[in-house]
Amino acid sequence: MKMCAAAAAAVVVLLSLFSVGLSAPLTSCESLLKPITITREEILGRWMYIGGSSNIPGSRSVAHLMTSVWVDLSATSQENVLSLLQSQKIYGDCSSFLYNVTFQNSVMLIEEPFFLKEVYLPTECPDCLLAIEDIVSGTDNFRSLLLFSRSKSVPPAMIEMLKRQAVCLQMPSPIIMKTDEEPCRDDITPEEGLDTLNKLLESKMGLRVARVLDSLFDYFWN
Ligand SMILES: *[C@@H]1O[C@H](CO)[C@@H](O)[C@H](O)[C@H]1NC(C)=O
Repeated sequence: MKMCAAAAAAVVVLLSLFSVGLSAPLTSCESLLKPITITREEILGRWMYIGGSSNIPGSRSVAHLMTSVWVDLSATSQENVLSLLQSQKIYGDCSSFLYNVTFQNSVMLIEEPFFLKEVYLPTECPDCLLAIEDIVSGTDNFRSLLLFSRSKSVPPAMIEMLKRQAVCLQMPSPIIMKTDEEPCRDDITPEEGLDTLNKLLESKMGLRVARVLDSLFDYFWN
């Protein structure tokens, strides 16, 4: 009996040590937002978009309508250039964008026609990728926090961590994709993605309309 109690006490001590060891480094905003290193080999391949948050006007409306998004990164003839294929289903319609990005020293960059810098933050699952993007378009600055995974869904703990990271960044609550939808196929002809995205970022009038839409969507969806 005594042995049992001693063993139980030891387990409790061990468990609490363990949970302290595991969670302590990931509780402060500083540690949650400290960029991680990632190699080219680690980032290559297909990533399913799980969810995220962005202050790009219109992005929240679109996020409520999107059902299946993935990106596929592949190597090009240039060591520091990756080809990015992005596919999305919006209201049942599949479309895709293809563009080149620079990837070096754990940083993804687009310099033209707008500026985008993406770094990666700690995650709670081994097959996840959490990106934070800073975007500059003319005099406008935007920020997006995007969670990807090799699989279609992630453990609930990861969603909780994503929410904490959004709070640390003072960003709106992340919108999580529904996972019951078939992903789009590979064989649709992609559009030149950067031009399309740039048009969206540059249209000031569009941005104002999009902001209104975003608040409406958030209001009626929740
Ligand atoms: C991407 O970069 C590669 C290597 O520089 C080039 O061959 C290819 O044409 C580029 N593709 C696009 C869509 O710009």
